[in-house]
Amino acid sequence: MTNPDEVAHHYHSGHLLKRIADGCAALNLSPPIAHDALAPVDEFHIGGRLATEPFVKALDLSSDSRVVDFGCGLGGPARYVAAATGAHVTGIDLTAEFVETGRALTEWTGLSDRVQLIEGSVLDLPLEAASMDAAYMIHVGMNIADKVGIAQEAKRVLKPDGVFAIYDVMQVGEGHMDYPAPWASSSDQSALAPPETYEAALTSVGFELSDRIDRTAFAKQFFADLAAAQSRVDGPPPLGLHLIMGDDTALKVKHMVRNIEGGLIAPIEIHARLPV
Ligand SMILES: C[S@@+](CC[C@H](N)C(=O)[O-])C[C@H]1O[C@@H](n2cnc3c(N)ncnc32)[C@H](O)[C@@H]1O
Repeated sequence: MTNPDEVAHHYHSGHLLKRIADGCAALNLSPPIAHDALAPVDEFHIGGRLATEPFVKALDLSSDSRVVDFGCGLGGPARYVAAATGAHVTGIDLTAEFVETGRALTEWTGLSDRVQLIEGSVLDLPLEAASMDAAYMIHVGMNIADKVGIAQEAKRVLKPDGVFAIYDVMQVGEGHMDYPAPWASSSDQSALAPPETYEAALTSVGFELSDRIDRTAFAKQFFADLAAAQSRVDGPPPLGLHLIMGDDTALKVKHMVRNIEGGLIAPIEIHARLPV
């Protein structure tokens, strides 16, 4: 899916903030809300917060760091980074509803002084050249065919020695893929690519590769734990990704799990750094 309007349409659900507010009310949560309490709904990727924690740790951030979140969604990872490290995080996302909702959640959690969310494209970041110490992207590249364009923007906004970490669903096998998936309704809307394509894009603009981590085993365990938890309760919890993914959430997740089990896709981290 490379058409920005189609991407935003896919992710727009309508009245998202109200549904999250209703979920919070059901849990007796009202502002100020601890950012951790929102993690079930504002971390829109495989493993949620459990995946974000080790991914962010590898970035080695401090309160002096200026960080850009490529495709920030509701800003859950950005708020976690700011709260856990003290860094200043700028999140960019195409989907207006996510950015508007994310700004409200940032206010609720008292993190507006360190987290800024802006509507825009990661292929044309509204940021100065060489202004950032670190960049990361979580489950976004599946919506963007132009992987070199992503790498070029990361290179442009990062300072020398800056790090760029990616955690995306990547293609690791050939075969029939089941859709809808969380990031696309059909295959012609998906821009899945193998890790080698990401790595070639990064090195082509001057990044040095530092790590590739396959998170398949973690993902399988995460989904097994989720299924076990769901079998013990009636209906979805007040806060969860179903508020974002809509009525076909179960089908999208089922397809993603089947595609992972079938060896077609895998959640993979790629870490890269610019030369000094
Ligand atoms: C699966 S969500 C992940 C959101 C967030 N990174 C997280 O992990 O919670 C994918 C996000 O990528 C955003 N996105 C897709 N293409 C984009 C682009 N070209 N520029 C900015 N954001 C984009 C979508 O709007 C959506 O919010």
